[in-house]
Amino acid sequence: MPISDTILVTGGAGFIGSNFVLAWVETVGTPVVNLDALTYAGNPASLDCLSSDGRQLLVQGDICNAELVGSLLREHRPRAIVHFAAESHVDRSIVAPDAFIRTNVQGTFTLLEQAKSYWSGLSEADRWAFRFLHVSTDEVYGSLGAADPAFCETTPYAPNSPYAASKAASDHLVRAYYHTFGLPVLTTNCSNNYGPFQFPEKLIPLMILNALEGKPLPVYGDGANVRDWLYVRDHCSAIHAVLARGRIGETYNVGGNSERMNLDVVTAICDLLDEMSPDPRLGSRRKLVTFVKDRPGHDRRYAIDASKIARELGWTPAEQFESGLRRTVRWYLDHLDWVENVRTGAYLRWIEQNYKERLAT
Ligand code: NAD
Ligand code: DAU
Repeated sequence: MPISDTILVTGGAGFIGSNFVLAWVETVGTPVVNLDALTYAGNPASLDCLSSDGRQLLVQGDICNAELVGSLLREHRPRAIVHFAAESHVDRSIVAPDAFIRTNVQGTFTLLEQAKSYWSGLSEADRWAFRFLHVSTDEVYGSLGAADPAFCETTPYAPNSPYAASKAASDHLVRAYYHTFGLPVLTTNCSNNYGPFQFPEKLIPLMILNALEGKPLPVYGDGANVRDWLYVRDHCSAIHAVLARGRIGETYNVGGNSERMNLDVVTAICDLLDEMSPDPRLGSRRKLVTFVKDRPGHDRRYAIDASKIARELGWTPAEQFESGLRRTVRWYLDHLDWVENVRTGAYLRWIEQNYKERLAT
């Protein structure tokens, strides 16, 4: 049986995955099978607008379940797998790394094995057409000094957190399945994303919601760590480009060309909220900034050299950081119902666990 025009997305109910599925249905329009375990980070409400759209099928399931993955491949015969599913929060990987090894390493291995078995049974033409796109991170490259050149695709791997190490392991497995078995893989290594539907454990949504509510803004260490911020829809368009035109076996770095210090990001959020949702009782929200105990092993700086994807595939980010941040703040202000839906008991326990001691010292 030939492949179909369906794609199998993993982790499509998470932050980037849901933005990708929404953009895919909007711009490409071919069917998506969305395999997601719906962990604390997975939220079907992010895909509510597709609930009566037959083009997306959300399957609740685990990428470590080989039987399930194999049966989805045999039933839907996708032309590609786009693999987002992961445990993604560095702080959680410091507190409880087990789930990171299971999903990010064992889960990616399971997907690769099932993909190889499915792909081996395809006709020669379909084997040429099939793609396995692995979504990874710039954190695999470690930490940069202030004057170091940005990460490029040949920068040696030097992961520093259990999260980064688990993603590095998954990248190596993906590479090995190309070199050893010829599986047509592609890998993207992307910088920090921000935008709609991001779970409020990560810097930008956490700070938006705390600042809105007049709570302390817990900045780790001296606040001078630097991240290269990319608007999530730009990441999605980069993945489209790599899937459509990327050279198999290659990796592509994806970045926003927007290096910012954490403290500058947080004060920008304060100023936007003072303008968009002024609260006379709070005055300037900048006074909520609270320096707290640092993250262990905290990487100082990330920066991406995205010249390869620009040169080979013609992709560059469309959004500027300042306009993207404004759109993001607007989105959270307009979607407080979505926020309430994700701030469950488990979320509140995480906030207590990660910040209580930090804020007390
Ligand atoms: P996220 O935590 O918001 O979403 C992860 C999704 O994976 C959730 O929907 C969750 O339910 C699902 N999932 C977790 N374990 C699973 C399992 N065992 N089986 C099936 N589904 C499972 O993550 P995100 O921020 O959207 O990141 C998506 C991918 O992009 C990850 O691979 C991450 O490493 C990578 N990435 C993220 C960023 C970023 O800034 N957020 C940057 C670069 C790369
Ligand atoms: O670089 C890509 C990575 O970006 C992705 O692979 C990860 O999945 C994603 O979570 C993100 O990792 P970071 O650790 O950079 O993101 P986070 O939002 O957790 O933190 C951003 C910066 O802000 C980092 O320097 C730590 C700091 N920080 C974070 C939180 C949650 C704070 O100062 N205070 C906070 O409360």
